[in-house]
Amino acid sequence: MQGDYASVTMVMSSLERFPGTAWPPTLDEAGQARALEALEAGGILLFPDLRFAIEPSEGRFFVEGWSAAAKNISYEAARRSLGGTKAEGEDATGLTRLMARYAEASRRLVEAAIPLYRGRIETARTSFRPVEIAGRSSSPRQDDTRLHVDAFPSRPTAGRRILRVFSNVNPAGQARRWRIGGPFASTAPQFYPRLPKPRPGSALLHAWLGLTKGRRRDYDHYMLQLHDAMKRDDGYQREGVIEEIDFPAGATWIVFTDQRPHAALAGRYALEQTFHLDVEQMKHPERSPLRVLESLAGRRLT
Ligand code: SIN
Ligand code: FE
Repeated sequence: MQGDYASVTMVMSSLERFPGTAWPPTLDEAGQARALEALEAGGILLFPDLRFAIEPSEGRFFVEGWSAAAKNISYEAARRSLGGTKAEGEDATGLTRLMARYAEASRRLVEAAIPLYRGRIETARTSFRPVEIAGRSSSPRQDDTRLHVDAFPSRPTAGRRILRVFSNVNPAGQARRWRIGGPFASTAPQFYPRLPKPRPGSALLHAWLGLTKGRRRDYDHYMLQLHDAMKRDDGYQREGVIEEIDFPAGATWIVFTDQRPHAALAGRYALEQTFHLDVEQMKHPERSPLRVLESLAGRRLT
């Protein structure tokens, strides 16, 4: 068993590493091509030495007590609104500045690594994740220590991709530990036959009741069902892991989290930026979860 996993890990590592300490790093043409291919195949682009700089005055945010939610402090760049925190006044302004700077830095990083996405990615939510993951309590559905692909009940994407940039900004040098599952294209077919079919009318009802921001498409339905089915499946949780990764403090990584099954096991103090991307704007739209699920369903899902 151990041996099997070791060989699988060597052949199928989901990590693609890039040097660089200056933000944004410079990738030559070959590096950019390698980044695009790896990312759209569900790989994780790892910049182990690309540290997101925290300013001395921001050190005050790296202690207990700022978070008002169980998990994250969030920031919406489009509305310049901050949520999930007890910070007020000067402190709220300081946190807003930190997160707005991360949103901007993340966009510059993605555009430097993948010039094809320049002007195509839409900036969504930013999060600051100060809470230790290990031992954090959550409902099974919200338990991100179990392998899953990302899909959010209240925020349907209508088929658009979820691209995320993470930075481990832990001031004490603690790594952020993830587990990684196998590729979407081989995992989705295992789960698809047992996913409940969408019920006619339920998407409109959700939108009408204000439970979703916009109408849930059949694609969103299947992604949510897949997210839940993965987290519920103890066998998959045991056997679906192909790799365990410690992202060191000072590292930054980019991944399509709607595509690559992942679980976060331990760590605290990370920044994360979400972008959306239309499937048609990818180099390989056929690798997207939308197209993979559509080929399983035998019909369009948006
Ligand atoms: C997740 O997306 O499941 C959590 C990732 C993290 O916070 O490291
Ligand atoms: Fe996730």
